[in-house]
Amino acid sequence: MPVFTPTGQACGAVVTEIDLSNPLSDEESAALRAGLDEHHVLVFPEQSMTNDDLERFSTSFGDLGTDPWFVPIDGSDYIAEIRRDADETTPVFGEGWHSDWSFLDTPPVATCLYGLDIPPVGGDTLYANQHLAYERLPDDLKTRVDGLQAVHTTRGIYGKGGQHDPDNEREQGRSMNVVPDQDPFDGEHPLVRRHEGNGRPAFFSTLGYIQDIVGMDRTEARALLKEIHAHQIADEVVYRHRWEPDMCVVWDNRSVLHRATGGYEGHSRLLRRTTILPANAA
Ligand code: SIN
Repeated sequence: MPVFTPTGQACGAVVTEIDLSNPLSDEESAALRAGLDEHHVLVFPEQSMTNDDLERFSTSFGDLGTDPWFVPIDGSDYIAEIRRDADETTPVFGEGWHSDWSFLDTPPVATCLYGLDIPPVGGDTLYANQHLAYERLPDDLKTRVDGLQAVHTTRGIYGKGGQHDPDNEREQGRSMNVVPDQDPFDGEHPLVRRHEGNGRPAFFSTLGYIQDIVGMDRTEARALLKEIHAHQIADEVVYRHRWEPDMCVVWDNRSVLHRATGGYEGHSRLLRRTTILPANAA
């Protein structure tokens, strides 16, 4: 059965005594789901996984989802590449704090990344524990955010004129297969949600994908979102993850924000990713 060793940081545990290249037993899968509810980020070092293994393992946490804004790799409908070539000069993909596709009506519960080509320096992924961020909030701010409904959108990131608009000068030469937004998508979710697995409240997503608060004037909403954002990414709630080749990481998008980091200019970086929907959501 898997053994969980907490990272000692704001979230995350290293998981050993498990081989992800083999089908997992129901007991092992249940232990991993419980571990994710508790630690929010699970790190599996020294795993040797094929694409089929990655897909099968991902279904321990829910149903495989497609990524409307990525072209999948050949031979899979569900696996996308997070890729950056050594000579690439485009901005690092996913460098802003976010919760994956939080603008969807049914957002992913989890995301899985498997490291293939890891640079010798830089390229860490940061995770911010949103249960902790909410719990540490001053009482008056808690009162102001409780019950608010946030408006999430693709527009600023994948929409026309957004970060990943292919006509954007900065996007020229990106090696990743990002698909521009054909049809901007707006969705609403509570700003603070109770996690279905662990019952704890957490902020869900942040500025970038969240553009507005229902019933609030935009200027006021942006000011409040900025104020909260500072608490959401405070050093005290962040786990810095250092990658190794053949390492697999799963995180809970309902519990953490994440962001990529650079610092590996002149080196390539390649990971394979699945996005995991709640089981039986369709
Ligand atoms: C992502 O946002 O999925 C990318 C994370 C990373 O490249 O570290």
